[in-house]
Amino acid sequence: MQLKAYWFATFIFDFLKMYLTILMAIILFAAFDLDLNAAMVPLALLPFGALPFTYATTFIFSSSQAASAINIFLNILVLGILASITWTFRIAIPPFMVYGDSMHSWFWLVPTYNVGAAMFCDRQCDTLADTRKAPYVDAPETNADKWAFENITRDSLVMLLHMVVWSIFIMANEKGWFSLCSFKPKAKNSLTADQLDSDVVAEKKRVEEHTGTPEMVKIQGLNKVFSTNKKCCKTEKFNAVTDLSFGLQQGECFALLGVNGAGKSTTFKSLTGMVNPSSGKVQISGFDIKRDFEKARKLIGYCP
Ligand SMILES: Nc1ncnc2c1ncn2[C@@H]1O[C@H](COP(=O)(O)OP(=O)(O)O)[C@@H](O)[C@H]1O
Ligand SMILES: [Mg+2]
Repeated sequence: MQLKAYWFATFIFDFLKMYLTILMAIILFAAFDLDLNAAMVPLALLPFGALPFTYATTFIFSSSQAASAINIFLNILVLGILASITWTFRIAIPPFMVYGDSMHSWFWLVPTYNVGAAMFCDRQCDTLADTRKAPYVDAPETNADKWAFENITRDSLVMLLHMVVWSIFIMANEKGWFSLCSFKPKAKNSLTADQLDSDVVAEKKRVEEHTGTPEMVKIQGLNKVFSTNKKCCKTEKFNAVTDLSFGLQQGECFALLGVNGAGKSTTFKSLTGMVNPSSGKVQISGFDIKRDFEKARKLIGYCP
C-alpha cells in the first residue's frame, strides 16, 4: 500500500472516531448549559493536532499499545489535571502565578492542554485579568479578551501548528530521513573475510564492483540490528542480518537457505520495505528501497 494512502486512511478513521467523542462532549456542554462557545474552536481543531502528535509518539514506544496507553494517560493528565493546576496557579495563588504562566507557556506542546486552557480562559479570562490588577499581586497583567492572541486564538492556532510539524515529522521518518532512535543500533561482530566462505566473499566483491545496467535485486552490506526491550531508546541489540551482499539478474531463480533464525525473512522484509535496514544498500532494479520506494514497490510481488 502507498505510504500516503495508508496514513490518509488511518487519519480519516481516527478522525471520525475522535469526532464522535468531541460531538458527545459538545452535546453534554450544551445540555448542562455550560457556556464554553469560544473553547469549542480549539476543541473542534483538536483531532488535527492530537492525531499527528499521537502517531509521532508511536515511533518512540516499542508497541502501538504502549503508545496508546501512554497517550490516554497523557491526555487525561494534561487536559484535566495539568490544565487545572496551571490555571489555579495563574489565577488563585499569587506566589505561584509566574510559575503558572511559565507552565502555560510550555504545556501547549501537548495538543490536549490547549483545549483545557481554552475552557478555563473562556470562563475566567476576565477574572484572571482583574486578579492580575490587584495591588497585592506581583505577576504580569493578562488580557481579559478571550480572543486575544495569547488566549484562545493561540490555543486554536497551535493545533494547526501541531498538525503541520508532526505530519512533516511522520513523513520524514517514514522516508527514513532520520529515526527517532537514531542512536540507531550499530551492527557489531562483523565477520572477517577469513571466516566467510570464498563464494560469499566473491559475490560481495562482485556486487561492490558491479557497474552498468542495475541488477534486478541488489543487496549490499545489509545489516539489520533489532532492538529488543526497547524502552525509550535504551535497548538491547540483536544482529539478525550481518553484512549481507548479493545481486540477482533478471529472470534468475534464487533461493535463500538457512537455519531457523538465520535472517531469511528479515532479508526479504528489507527487500520489500517492511523492515528498515540498520545499514547497507537495498535496490530493486536500481531503485533504492528507501528513497525510491514508490518505484521499487511496483516491481515487487511478495508472498510472506
Ligand atoms: N521484529 C523483531 N524484533 C526482534 N528480533 C527479531 C525480529 N524479527 C526477527 N527477529 C530475530 O531475528 C532473527 C532472524 O529472524 P528471521 O529473519 O525471521 O529468521 P528466518 O526467517 O531465517 O528464520 C531471529 O533470531 C529472530 O528472532
Ligand atoms: Mg522466516
